[in-house]
Amino acid sequence: MVEEHMKSSRRRFLGTGAAFAVGLAGGDPSPVSGDSRSFLENELPIKAESLSLRDRAIAKGLFFGAAVDAPILRADSRFRSAIEADCGMLVPGNALKWNWTQTVGGDHPPDFTLAESIYAYAKRHGLKMRGHTLVWHNSIPSWVGRALIDTPGFNSAASILVKHVNEFVSAWKGRLEHWDVVNEPLSSGKDFYWRDILGEQYIDLAFHAAKEADPKAKLVLNQDLLELDDSYQRTLRRRFLSLLERLLRRGVPVEAVGIEGHLFGHLGIDDRELDAFFGEIEGMGLEVLITELDVWDGGMRGDSATRDLNSASLVKRFLDVSLSHKNCIGILAWTLTDLHSWYHHTPDKWRRDGVPNRAGLLDENYLRKPIWYAVASAIDSAVMR
Ligand code: XIL
Repeated sequence: MVEEHMKSSRRRFLGTGAAFAVGLAGGDPSPVSGDSRSFLENELPIKAESLSLRDRAIAKGLFFGAAVDAPILRADSRFRSAIEADCGMLVPGNALKWNWTQTVGGDHPPDFTLAESIYAYAKRHGLKMRGHTLVWHNSIPSWVGRALIDTPGFNSAASILVKHVNEFVSAWKGRLEHWDVVNEPLSSGKDFYWRDILGEQYIDLAFHAAKEADPKAKLVLNQDLLELDDSYQRTLRRRFLSLLERLLRRGVPVEAVGIEGHLFGHLGIDDRELDAFFGEIEGMGLEVLITELDVWDGGMRGDSATRDLNSASLVKRFLDVSLSHKNCIGILAWTLTDLHSWYHHTPDKWRRDGVPNRAGLLDENYLRKPIWYAVASAIDSAVMR
C-alpha cells in the first residue's frame, strides 16, 4: 500500500514536466533549471525504486531513522506504515524531554509512559531508538527554575543537573543507542540557567554524569544552525569547533556531534567550507550524526513544486558533503511527513502566505517528495563505511 503510494508519487513528480528556472532567494547560484523529470532523473539518481531508505543506508554501513511523537504513532496507521517502510532507528521528538516527563518536581520520578510506548513499538519492529535530549534550555521544567531561585549557587545547580542526567540515563541504560546529552549549547536563549550559573562546565558535568550512568550509550553534543552559508551560521561553526576543542582538551566524554540539519530553503551551502567544517570534526576523532533533517521553506519563492525541488537540491548538497566523511554514521529526519510537521505548531515559523510548510520527505498524503529522493540519492552515492 505504502509502496504503491510511493510509486505513484514518483510518477507524479516525473510527470509534472513543469519548467523551473527559479534560483534560491538567498542567492545560491546552483540548483534547479530544466524540468522536474530531468531534475529527479539526472540530479537525484537512485537505485531500485523499491529500496527503502533503511536498506539503502544499511548497504552503506549507515542508519536511517526519524523522529516520532507517541500520540501520532498511536493514532495514525499510515504514519506507522511509513516508519516501518523506511526507518531503522527512532528518536522520540518530545517524549524524553525533561519538561514532558518530570513536571511536578525532582522528588517525583519521571513519567516515561510515552517514551516507553515508542520503545515498545520500536522493539516490536526491530528498530533501534536514540535518546533526545537531556539538557536543553527549551525543555527545563518550571520547578527547576524555582529551585534555582530558592537555593541559588553553583553547588545547588550542579546537583540538580547531575541528578537529572543520572536519573534519566540510568532509567534507559542499555536500551538507547545514543543520547543527545546537551542540545543546542550555542543557542542564545534567555532562559539559559545552566550556562549563567555554572558556565561552560555544565556541559562537562552532564557528559560525565551520562557516561557514568550508561557507559555504552554514545554521547552526543547536538547543535542547530551549522549547515548553511550565512554569516550567523559561519560564526557558529567556528564557535562550535572551538567549543569541541575545549571540551576534548578537558577530557569531556563527547563521542559524537549531532548536526541537526534543519535547513532553511532560502539559504545556500558553501560546499567547500562545509566540507572543511566536517573535516575538522573528523580530525578530532568524533563521529557525526545528522539528527533532525528537514527543510523550512518559509523564506523560499515559487510554487510548491518549485520549492520542493529546490529543497531537494539543498538536501542533496548538504548530505553529499556530510556523507563524504566516513565518520558520519547516520541520518534522522525530524519531519518525515508534511502531515505531522512540527512547523505546524510553531507559529513563528509559519509561512506568511498561510500555506503550510513542506519540510518533510513525504507529503501530507504520504507520497514521496523530491526531498525523499534527495536523501535516497545521497545515501546511494555515499562511500561505503
Ligand atoms: C521540537 C518538537 O518537534 C516540537 O514538537 C516541540 O513543540 C518543540 O521541539 N530542535 C530540537 C528539537 O532539538 O527537540 C525540537 O523539537 C526542534 C528543534
